[in-house]
Amino acid sequence: MSKRIGVAVIGCGYWGMNYVRVFGELAETRVVVACDQRLDRLQEVVRRFPGVEPVTSISEMLKVTGVDAVVVCTNASTHYAVGRQCLEAGKHLLIEKPLTTIAEEAVELIELAGTNARLLMVGHTFVYNGGIRKVKEWMNKDGDQVYYLYSSRTNLGPIRHDVNALWDLAPHDVAIFNYLLDSTPEWVSAIGVKVLRNCREDVGFISLGYPGNVVGHVHVSWADPHKAREVVVVASHRRIVFNDLNGTEPVRVFAKGVRPADPEPTNYREYRFPTSHSYILRPHVEIGEPLKNQCRHFIECIAKKAQPLTGGHEGLEVVRVLQAVDRSIALGGAPVEISRNGYYYQQKSA
Ligand SMILES: NC(=O)c1ccc[n+]([C@@H]2O[C@H](COP(=O)([O-])OP(=O)(O)OC[C@H]3O[C@@H](n4cnc5c(N)ncnc54)[C@H](O)[C@@H]3O)[C@@H](O)[C@H]2O)c1
Repeated sequence: MSKRIGVAVIGCGYWGMNYVRVFGELAETRVVVACDQRLDRLQEVVRRFPGVEPVTSISEMLKVTGVDAVVVCTNASTHYAVGRQCLEAGKHLLIEKPLTTIAEEAVELIELAGTNARLLMVGHTFVYNGGIRKVKEWMNKDGDQVYYLYSSRTNLGPIRHDVNALWDLAPHDVAIFNYLLDSTPEWVSAIGVKVLRNCREDVGFISLGYPGNVVGHVHVSWADPHKAREVVVVASHRRIVFNDLNGTEPVRVFAKGVRPADPEPTNYREYRFPTSHSYILRPHVEIGEPLKNQCRHFIECIAKKAQPLTGGHEGLEVVRVLQAVDRSIALGGAPVEISRNGYYYQQKSA
């Protein structure tokens, strides 16, 4: 077998510990070093994964030999600075979502990765989820026309202290919608609410305008006692529901839809909107760990020098949308246009 790719994980909190486990399980990789500022997290790494070297700083991590690739799983506001250091040191990079919190910084990382011929990938984990893949498969069947999509990502916390609930949760939904529709939004309109008075928005409602008049809506909350992780696609022939909390049947297809009325009806009956019959399908979904699929894709792309499905550009698109969301919230929910040929946004003209 060829040499295993050496991986470092920076940020071994709740989510980063999963990366240490997954890269330790894959045959093609080995976790060389784990980096965290918190000693209790490093003690947990050492207890669960003997052989992984614990370090408390990035400069120490960069001195350890045998590291080819780095996972950045620190708090969102640190992604750019930490990621930049790793790219400058010549490492391949997998950064958790959101790629950065400022679009210009995402562009810098993309350019740096290009200059140094290193892979840059973002952890849009749901793109590697068998359920979301199944939804996409069903969306494109027999000329079905997508009308709109919506998602709910609610729970009681966990509350973050560097970004609001929209930056924390909605990157998942925007990445999912972009992937499902093979496009990016042209405008957004968003409302954010600070119900918990913790100085940042803990509840958000985002509308997204995609090409072809397809509208997406995302609801996120840290303050809802009902945990939801759901994406719904409504199309002319069917309604497709992905429920990430249903471990056995995450996707349901409701084969019932309504098509637009005939534009030139010859009699009254044709004014009625034609509907189709209803039956429910529970398509088989390959149950595998999405994070493991994502990590496998990362190392395959390194080995083949291929572009990842969720590379820097896909990460940048999501950051641009979230920045436009911030702008819309500041404007009291006014629609904000996202420029097609740049990463700047401006207020949508009336
Ligand atoms: N893809 C997903 O499904 C998913 C799920 C959860 C979290 N995340 C993302 O993962 C990231 C981490 O989330 P979390 O829930 O694990 O947070 P967390 O607070 O539990 O862990 C973050 C860890 O990073 C460490 N850290 C921060 N800055 C550091 C630095 N400069 N050097 C070394 N260590 C540093 C902290 O000490 C902490 O232990 C976030 O970007 C979050 O958005 C993604």
